Amino acid sequence: MSSQPIGVYDSGVGGLSVVKEISSKLPWERVAYFGDTARVPYGEKRAQEILELSREAFRFLIAQGSKYIIVACNTVCSQVLEDVKKEFGIPVMGILQPGAYAASRATATGRIGVLATTGTIRSGAYEKAITQYLSEAQVFGVACPRLAPLVEEGNIDTAETRNALRGYIGPLLEKDIDTLVLGCSHYAHLNEHIRRIVGPGIEIVDPAVETVTATAIALQELGLQSQERVGEHEFIVTGDPACFLAVARRLLGDDLTKVGRVEVSPI
Ligand code: DGL
Repeated sequence: MSSQPIGVYDSGVGGLSVVKEISSKLPWERVAYFGDTARVPYGEKRAQEILELSREAFRFLIAQGSKYIIVACNTVCSQVLEDVKKEFGIPVMGILQPGAYAASRATATGRIGVLATTGTIRSGAYEKAITQYLSEAQVFGVACPRLAPLVEEGNIDTAETRNALRGYIGPLLEKDIDTLVLGCSHYAHLNEHIRRIVGPGIEIVDPAVETVTATAIALQELGLQSQERVGEHEFIVTGDPACFLAVARRLLGDDLTKVGRVEVSPI
């Protein structure tokens, strides 16, 4: 049993999809959120830089008393998750592996599309992870460098974002996919628009959902689950807290009443 927070790490507002899921599935758990909004986007950064940034985030979340860390950034998971796991003696769940598992379960035809950042697509991590669960799967990845910055700026429901989405998703529809993975946590916030573009016949996989299911099991196995909610979620960003709040309020809705603190990270 532990009333310490679950640390959630993302480059920006993307990991709020995981917070939303925690609030609905594990309402007794408290979150310490670290959004690296001063350095977002991570999608085009080199692995070494991502590793340095991840180390800072881990040190910060551990200093906040986190009992467990969810890496809600696929870009981090695709390139440096194993390194940070080894370096820090804290249980860690990355969002990519559960997302890959969910995709392998969701598909009927084995034809799976993945929308993700340039770094994640270039790493081939989704293809590798999905084919571990379903060896005959055919995985088609599309890098979407414009999307995370658009979401970060709060451009959720704009013509620019919808046009960008159509451009990225079009080639996947031509591949006759039956499952589409939102392989960057920022894209979960575009779910509605994505659904409109792909229509009702394609399964959309949001890795945040499976990640929180797997976290619930892991916390139980480790004896780290909380019995009752102690305190509020805390959101810590490296950039401007007011910008984060403005976007987070749109994305998180009622959950924002649970924001205890938003301030610039002391890193
Ligand atoms: N949200 C992150 C991911 O899941 C990365 C977005 C970015 O910083 O480029 O990949």
